[in-house]
Amino acid sequence: MIIVLLGPPGAGKGTQADRLAARLGIPKIATGDVLRAALRDGTKRGREAKAYMDRGDLVPDSVILGILQDVMTSPATAKGAILDGAVRTVPQAEGLGIMLAEIGKKVDRILLFDVDDDELVKRLSTRTVCEGCQTPYMGRDPGSKCEKCGGKLVRRKDDEPEAIRNRLEVYRTQTAPVIDWYGDNKMKVLKIDADGPVDEVTARAIEALNG
Ligand code: AP5
Repeated sequence: MIIVLLGPPGAGKGTQADRLAARLGIPKIATGDVLRAALRDGTKRGREAKAYMDRGDLVPDSVILGILQDVMTSPATAKGAILDGAVRTVPQAEGLGIMLAEIGKKVDRILLFDVDDDELVKRLSTRTVCEGCQTPYMGRDPGSKCEKCGGKLVRRKDDEPEAIRNRLEVYRTQTAPVIDWYGDNKMKVLKIDADGPVDEVTARAIEALNG
């Protein structure tokens, strides 16, 4: 099953993608994580993406479609994938659809995580993430240890106030139209109330996927 997760920055896409991946036994593919890993490894792709990411802008569609081509043709995604934040523009949605059709696959479900702006800003401005495995935490100071891998928790550069504002604006102008694009193409977008305890949001997502 190929599941696309949509939603604004801080909606909990990464948090829920990990849980859904464990529950469904398919990998999570987060383009943000792929880009940050490329940045750490000093690859051309990472260097190209850095300035866009630091400002909270989207990296060019060509870079994202290159990543999606690599991952969706890899044996690791043979049984499906949870695509976390991997579709953020209409050209990316179109490109993914074409690339999947070429290998006899399609997007099976689309989940939209919905949270109001005040809660998003609160989550992002208090988030730390593991430098190693990227697990996000709330209410843990930078420098603390990751529960999963022992890595160091750090603040993301794009969680500074100006970058957060820009990311929310970019979401409204460039990513929100993807919701209508899927609707126009007869693909149902399942809206999940993503406010509330993490376990409850997971339960709502599972219910929507099974419905
Ligand atoms: P990316 O890393 O994907 O960032 P994002 O989309 O801004 O999303 P976030 O990771 O900030 O939020 P999230 O929804 O995953 O929430 P999380 O689970 O962490 O992308 C970074 C950058 O890469 C982009 O800005 C862009 O430059 C580039 N990029 C990536 N993909 C791209 C693409 N396709 N096209 C172009 N550019 C691309 O949760 C947030 C916080 O809230 C955490 O602290 C978490 O613990 C907490 N939390 C989660 N759920 C709850 C809950 N229910 N209640 C309370 N707290 C919660």
